[in-house]
Amino acid sequence: MEIIEVQDYEEMSQKAAQIIISKVIHNPEMVIGFATGGTPKGTYRHLIEDHQKNGTSYSRISSVNLDEYAGLEANSPNSYRYYMNHSLFNHLDINMDQTHVPNGTAKQLEEECRRYDGLIDELGGVDLQILGMGVNGHIGFNEPGTSFTSPTHVVELAESTRKANARYFESLEDVPTHAVTMGIGTIMKSKHILLLVSGNEKAEALANLQKGAVTEEVPATILNHHPQVTVIADKQALSQTLTRR
Ligand code: F6R
Repeated sequence: MEIIEVQDYEEMSQKAAQIIISKVIHNPEMVIGFATGGTPKGTYRHLIEDHQKNGTSYSRISSVNLDEYAGLEANSPNSYRYYMNHSLFNHLDINMDQTHVPNGTAKQLEEECRRYDGLIDELGGVDLQILGMGVNGHIGFNEPGTSFTSPTHVVELAESTRKANARYFESLEDVPTHAVTMGIGTIMKSKHILLLVSGNEKAEALANLQKGAVTEEVPATILNHHPQVTVIADKQALSQTLTRR
């Protein structure tokens, strides 16, 4: 696991964007796995700036997203499809038909999960998966205790995750109770994983990951078993690791 230490959120976002851009230039037909949440927003802003300034093209890439809330329509401002369209896709030359987010309103969510894993296989797998990490070490919506071999599945969201995400909703009650998420098994099949971590509140989970012990209680620790992981973490996120050195 390569760990790139940066000063702050802004530098993390710049570095992450540079990595993504150079990969896209090198392989214009790559499959990118995108994440939502606060962490990658700055990265997406840099991708848009670069696209406008330097013309990096996304017209031939395909994308898959990690997860989607159950029950939210694509045009609901809190859905992850809406987030992706507005924070990134609408500002790039990406082919919308080649962008994929799990359908959280599918009648049969279990079937949707199987379709999604099949789709990822058909695309030839994910070349670069961008990940954020929850305070409790979750990746995607895989909460502590999730099996490391899980395929895409329906999850009940942990109360702590619903509370953390309530800032985007009018009230906690509005935060969906369930979501569809790529499983840890699905994420681990990605060829390269780019984990972005910023802020004090992630320091404990990051320190656990760096200790090297792999435990389902901190889902991100499975990344220690992946052959190609790049972590970009800022000083605050590394605060517990740095003081232990
Ligand atoms: C988002 C996702 C989540 C977030 C995590 C961190 O698609 O799957 O695992 O990456 O909850 O969220 P933020 O970045 O808002 O701290």
